[in-house]
Amino acid sequence: MRDLGGPVRDPGRLRLLRERARDDEAIEAMNETAFGPDRQHKTVYRLREDVKPISELCFVAIDQKGRMVASLRNWPIQINEKWPAILLGPLAIAPELRGLGYGKALMWHSMAQSRMLGHSRIILVGDPEYYNQFGFRRDLALNIQLPGWVEERRFLALELVAGAMIGVHGMIGKWQPKKRAGRKKR
Ligand SMILES: CC(C)(COP(=O)(O)OP(=O)(O)OC[C@H]1O[C@@H](n2cnc3c(N)ncnc32)[C@H](O)[C@@H]1OP(=O)(O)O)[C@@H](O)C(=O)NCCC(=O)NCCS
Repeated sequence: MRDLGGPVRDPGRLRLLRERARDDEAIEAMNETAFGPDRQHKTVYRLREDVKPISELCFVAIDQKGRMVASLRNWPIQINEKWPAILLGPLAIAPELRGLGYGKALMWHSMAQSRMLGHSRIILVGDPEYYNQFGFRRDLALNIQLPGWVEERRFLALELVAGAMIGVHGMIGKWQPKKRAGRKKR
């Protein structure tokens, strides 16, 4: 075990679960702590307004006392109204459990599940110093734009399928569910 130079922070076994309805409040509180109240004004939040996250791709880690200690959500977006993609985030780990590998575990799990569900590309705005290790790259996002200001160096993309960003260009927009012809409105 790594010597952390202080009291050993070992929460014991954590459970990784799909997010449940009752986790919502704790997740909001954790994201508020991690990203501050101004987070709602960020450009990526515009893409999330009135759009539900992809429920199969929202995960929480629960400790042995039943507390939610980590959360990762993913949202559907589309690029140039043509290319579906995932907008990854927010990702947050409880402050007392940071640096122990749980962020990494959630990221790899989420990316694997995304691929299993048939997704081929992921976009995010985050620290390249952290996200490069998962394969997120700035150069893959050079031909796409967000509908608002973003710190360029933090705007990254990942191909879950090799070549999935080739030729992909244009403005990222909110996910628009396709209207199915011939179905009655309810
Ligand atoms: C960033 C965050 C999600 C990382 O999760 P974590 O569980 O603390 O990170 P991990 O233990 O999985 O880190 C894995 C590796 O990334 C490194 N790392 C962690 N945070 C980092 C950061 N912000 N920048 C660069 N590297 C980082 C760790 O040193 C570790 O390196 P190692 O594998 O060589 O030891 C977490 O610290 C957090 O919630 N921070 C506040 C919210 C936030 O900033 N979220 C997203 C970043 S934009």
